[in-house]
Amino acid sequence: MKFFIDTADLAQIKEANDLGILDGVTTNPSLMAKVGISGEAAVTKHYIDICEMVDGDISAEVVSTDFDGIVAEGKKLAALHKNIVVKVPMIKDGIKAIKWFTDNGIRTNCTLIFSAGQAILAAKAGATYVSPFIGRIDDTGWDGLELIHQIRQIYSIQGYKSEILAASIRYPNHIIKCAEAGADVCTCPLDSILGLLKHPLTDSGLAKFLEDAKKFA
Ligand code: G3P
Repeated sequence: MKFFIDTADLAQIKEANDLGILDGVTTNPSLMAKVGISGEAAVTKHYIDICEMVDGDISAEVVSTDFDGIVAEGKKLAALHKNIVVKVPMIKDGIKAIKWFTDNGIRTNCTLIFSAGQAILAAKAGATYVSPFIGRIDDTGWDGLELIHQIRQIYSIQGYKSEILAASIRYPNHIIKCAEAGADVCTCPLDSILGLLKHPLTDSGLAKFLEDAKKFA
């Protein structure tokens, strides 16, 4: 399973990248706003900064909702850097645009996926990645991980090539469960990635090793 970081915060992206386990970055307009990036020039520069920092797929989201607007915006984003993947919302014109991007060699990430039906349409249109939002499904009282299992099963049976990019990750165990469910990619906040490092027995075991090592120093 590939690891992406789900943030537009350059310091957090650098910290995850320095671990050596980062395969890419996902952003969205809310994450850009969270770090105070707004306006086309600033957003463009920010994407280029991220691409120069991380050698992996970088999702850049369109904000148009009509076919012509999505295609125009996506072409501009894709031209910024070879690693840009155009992130397109799961709406009718979004699916049409994803098909257009597929036919024209531009990679896409279909975002805001909340059902298996949406995942089937995105795969049919040729999306490179589909992004089910598992945390937001959990928030509504349904089971986000169940959707990952369902999409994995459908894609395997049908031979769909889109990669399942589990998004809206809230805690470390989500990452483990996504790996079990066969997600191709998990995009995570930095805290959830770092949370995987932690175990109290590792801490107490290391403390004991270091204490014993002093006996022979
Ligand atoms: O990648 C999607 C993600 O940014 C949404 O996460 O926590 O806002 O549901 P969240």
